[in-house]
Amino acid sequence: MKHRTNRKTAAILFAAMLGLATASLAGPREDLVAQYATAAKAAAPAFAGFSAARGQTLHQQKFSGGKADSPSCTSCHSSDPRAAGRSPAGKAIDPVAASVSPARYTDPAKVEKWFKRNCNEVLGRECSANEKGDWLSYMLTQ
Ligand code: HEC
Repeated sequence: MKHRTNRKTAAILFAAMLGLATASLAGPREDLVAQYATAAKAAAPAFAGFSAARGQTLHQQKFSGGKADSPSCTSCHSSDPRAAGRSPAGKAIDPVAASVSPARYTDPAKVEKWFKRNCNEVLGRECSANEKGDWLSYMLTQ
């Protein structure tokens, strides 16, 4: 009886250690960045990593292919990622900098949904994996 309990305890401990190891190796944000990197490399083998500086340019740049009232990411998100934004309808949007909005970019489905919708509204097309990774790298360092 004692023997069985020990084995059970060991199994639980082992499972807990595995869980800890996985959690420290990669969180949802790192997984997402890694996925975009894999896709960016597949699209362009010369891909040499994401750039927060390019992400900042993308965030602030004005495009003409999307909706007239949202030519830029900063039309809704503030040009200062640590500040709150505002939708065209006047609804407040939490800051997009990871340092001030810790819950951001932890739900891959949410990130993908909004990249798709917002890139279409601003650029008139979906963002590439390279653009998403750059923009995310910028926000994760803000
Ligand atoms: C028309 C307004 C608008 C524009 C323009 C806009 N966004 Fe957004 N964005 C939103 C709203 C609204 C949300 C969802 C609410 C929230 O997450 O606070 C959001 C959420 C996001 C998210 C999800 C964040 C998370 O917490 O997971 C990403 C990523 C994002 N936007 C990227 C962009 C990028 C990149 C651009 C420019 C190409 C852009 N947005 C332009 C309104 C906008």
